[in-house]
Amino acid sequence: DWTTGNVIEEQVALIREQVGTKRAICGLSGGVDSAVAAALVQKAIGSQLTCVYVDHGLMRKGETEQVEKDFVAATGVQLKVVDAQERFLDALKGVSDPEEKRKIIGREFIRVFEQAQADIIAEAAEGEDVAFLVQGTLYPDVVESGGGTGTANIKSHHNVGGLPEDLEFELVEPLRKLFKDEVRMVGQELGLPDEIVQRQPFPGPGLGIRIVGEVTKDRLDLLRDADAIAREELTAAGLDRDIWQCPVVLLADVRSVGVQGDGRTYGHPIVLRPVSSEDAMTADWSRLPYDVLAKISTRITNEVADVNRVVLDVTSKPPGTIEWE
Ligand code: XMP
Repeated sequence: DWTTGNVIEEQVALIREQVGTKRAICGLSGGVDSAVAAALVQKAIGSQLTCVYVDHGLMRKGETEQVEKDFVAATGVQLKVVDAQERFLDALKGVSDPEEKRKIIGREFIRVFEQAQADIIAEAAEGEDVAFLVQGTLYPDVVESGGGTGTANIKSHHNVGGLPEDLEFELVEPLRKLFKDEVRMVGQELGLPDEIVQRQPFPGPGLGIRIVGEVTKDRLDLLRDADAIAREELTAAGLDRDIWQCPVVLLADVRSVGVQGDGRTYGHPIVLRPVSSEDAMTADWSRLPYDVLAKISTRITNEVADVNRVVLDVTSKPPGTIEWE
């Protein structure tokens, strides 16, 4: 019978059998799948596992710390953090086109991750074979890639942790039989922090595709502040379970006139995109309580410099996608 305890026990045994005395690498994205996969493998083979976290500077407030501190504290995992913020900003300089941004972020991510892999192999002691790569592939991913659902490729999705073909690694995929809610239960059982286990979907390219316009450090910081306020208020209002996710988007190429104190302002709009959904293939805009929206709007315009307007996206998917880019 299905219990999280049985799943963990079974997977730990299978991982030990597969990996033996060799070494494994796991990329962490900050998301629940890679975190639970890593925690399972850590439980099975301990210090034979090295995790890699590429800090691309496109995460939301607090997320990198959650991986670096809280996840490590909860699991005891050996973690290599690569600070690649400058590199991603350089690569994204002058780029506004959404698909181009996605391609650049995906490409840079793979390059940085491959370098980290090479470093780990180089650092391994003689005779240690770094032979395995851990992936947080879920059951729906398995079905989707094997079954060929024939859906059009509307955006070039990339998953942090999704890697190119020319690897000399064998894959370890301990979540292949699980659905998302089961992964969360396993993560909870393994003692992972709630912020990771209950995290709503967040795109691999991160805030890079939530800035309409060029991605710069200042804009990222601004968006991080606005996003943190929205998340804080949604959590305080107890709405996290009601919504699928709520992208917060900065219209960096748009300005509008406003008035604050006794002065005219000319600032940027922030878009709130709360949606409800079952599987992200279709979605509806969430009817959030007006008082919660009002609180978020007041706080963002008061606390975030250069933002003088907050607007609500009331488009379903289709025709709108969930993300703006
Ligand atoms: P869209 O915008 O296509 O998004 O309606 C559907 C869901 O996918 C997430 N998303 C991504 N997730 N890598 C990811 O891992 C990506 O490149 C990516 N782009 C969008 C989005 O947040 C939503 O949950």
